[in-house]
Amino acid sequence: MEVKKIGVLGAGIMGAGIAQICAEAGFEVILVDLAEAFVNKGYQNIVKNWTRAVEKGKRSAEELDRFKALITTSVDNKDFKDCDVVIEAIIEDIEVKKKVFKELGDICKDSAILASNTSALSITEIAVASGRPQSVVGMHFFNPVPVMKLVEVIPGAETSEAAVDIITELSRKIGKEPVQARETPGFIVNRILVPYMNEAAMLYQEGVPAEEIDKAMKLGANMPMGPLALADLVGLDTLLMICDYYWREFGDSKYRASLALRNKVRAGHLGRKSGKGFYDYTK
Ligand code: 3HC
Repeated sequence: MEVKKIGVLGAGIMGAGIAQICAEAGFEVILVDLAEAFVNKGYQNIVKNWTRAVEKGKRSAEELDRFKALITTSVDNKDFKDCDVVIEAIIEDIEVKKKVFKELGDICKDSAILASNTSALSITEIAVASGRPQSVVGMHFFNPVPVMKLVEVIPGAETSEAAVDIITELSRKIGKEPVQARETPGFIVNRILVPYMNEAAMLYQEGVPAEEIDKAMKLGANMPMGPLALADLVGLDTLLMICDYYWREFGDSKYRASLALRNKVRAGHLGRKSGKGFYDYTK
């Protein structure tokens, strides 16, 4: 199947980034979210990135016009009906995802591939809800999507080889390097990265300042950014959700979330997106 039109569900940081790179690769894209305000914010973020690239001389004004012409927005999932691939990038809540995939299974054409950008959850569980599990694949991007090279491709228990091939090939076409992961909680990257960020939050809870933890990991392990700054970038709610999911799935106390992380989420301090997390972004 030749992919021409891509639907992206969820216009948050990840969804907007995915829509951006799909348009840059020449695909027709429809970006959908629940409300005009969400979808407009996502679209404006994409345009801001492109405008900055033009200002830096990395893109031409003609390219910007061509990319803009490839993206439309909507608040109605029915507009996915003519898409060849739909990539879901909504909240990390299995019940919400199952409801959405049931809807996508009803709306999308039979040949469409339904991909989920879930960062840790079971592809099989999401796939079964769609009513067409052979067409559902995990397609996991990394933040910031326009910069990070990797896509994890994750087959569920009943995913067809053809669906995996289409998503693997699509990942390459949008400029990413695919790796095939197994359906284990957190796949490859988050299985390792989430406990690392949580361990940094435990150190913070024990009284080590965030700046010192991050400086140490940058200078001592050559990380591009420290684990707590990275946690703020990923979103503390997402991080906590994944820790709790590992705890439930593995039943192993090594996956318990740090209290510092839980309390920040309780306080509504979710990282960059809410203005505060381990650092204050409002100043
Ligand atoms: N959107 C688009 N482009 C961005 C961006 C963003 N949010 N942030 C940075 N960039 C671009 C800049 O425009 C710049 O592009 P240019 O070279 O063409 O001018 C380039 O990235 C480098 O940016 P900066 O010079 O401002 O900053 P740094 O060199 O410090 O890089 C970083 C910033 C790329 C974020 C780097 O610190 C980094 O790689 N950090 C680690 C990120 C990471 O580990 N991500 C994975 C998180 S886990 C995840 O996402 C999984 C999920 O499921 C939880």
